[in-house]
Amino acid sequence: PRKLTTVKALSESPGLSSIPSIYTFLKQPYHEPVSDTEEPIPTIDFSLLTSSLPDERGYSLVTSHGVPERMMKAIIEACREFLELPEEEKRGISGKHVLDPIRFGTSFNESVDEILCWRDYVKIFQHPEFHSPNKPPSFREIALEYSKRVRLVAREIIRGISESLGLEKDYIYETLNPENGLQLIAANLYPPCPQPELAMGLPPHSDHGLLTLLIQNQIGGLQVQHKGKWVNIDPIPNSFLANIGDHIEILSNGKYKSVLHRAVVNNRDVRISIAVPHGPALDAIFSPDSKLVENVGNPPAYGAMKYKEYLEFQQGTMLNGKSFLERIR
Ligand code: SIN
Ligand code: FE2
Repeated sequence: PRKLTTVKALSESPGLSSIPSIYTFLKQPYHEPVSDTEEPIPTIDFSLLTSSLPDERGYSLVTSHGVPERMMKAIIEACREFLELPEEEKRGISGKHVLDPIRFGTSFNESVDEILCWRDYVKIFQHPEFHSPNKPPSFREIALEYSKRVRLVAREIIRGISESLGLEKDYIYETLNPENGLQLIAANLYPPCPQPELAMGLPPHSDHGLLTLLIQNQIGGLQVQHKGKWVNIDPIPNSFLANIGDHIEILSNGKYKSVLHRAVVNNRDVRISIAVPHGPALDAIFSPDSKLVENVGNPPAYGAMKYKEYLEFQQGTMLNGKSFLERIR
């Protein structure tokens, strides 16, 4: 297997003024222009969730969610400290397989990516089994508290989605995401890049699972595709960005669409984002829900696949839009 340096180490090379060619995303659609019209993203006021249903665009800003701001700051700092540890330490505790509970790496999938992403990351399973690195020492306690609180937020939003599809409030959560639902912390580090217009933090993709709740340090870089244009999502303190994942698209037979998004980089500041995806149980077999298919009278638009296999399949390929989902259509 190839051994790559981390982007962090690369970005710290003295006098780095251009990026190695393997980091250049030259082709469309990577550098399509960004929309210049500001379009506010839909907001879910968490305290009014029952009256403000998630938007069918698939991404929303969640406010009044009750997760203390200090907890958000603490998890960002803890992940930053971990990602700044010496490389051998991070590699030393890291598994290699998508189902390994702690996985540190660079790019998206360093064993197959033809172009490398300007990103280092760590993914840590939080549920149904909780895992934590031992460094920094505070990580365990902070992650345990944060992931528990975020699960509650996710549950309420998934309940809202369930109702908006004409299902019982707890239908999705209880039937498909019982006690064994997967939850991860996926922490991303995007060091400053001398040629940000050529690089990509993460190329366009949609997330696996039901719902991702994302926070970031106060440095922008996330863009969402809306009506064919890339829209900047500015960091708004004390709020989550909620993203519909592929498995809600599958379950709803396409009524909800998972959202195409990407991360761009800049030449000044370190950007950190903490994405927390929530999925069904690893062994759950996902297909369009029969009740929903009957309700609308459409034939199922997606095939059935075990969540675990979906993850394994995703790890074996390059990130490429919604290609995973298209494979099972
Ligand atoms: C992600 O898509 O998982 C992360 C996007 C971001 O860094 O904002
Ligand atoms: Fe994502």
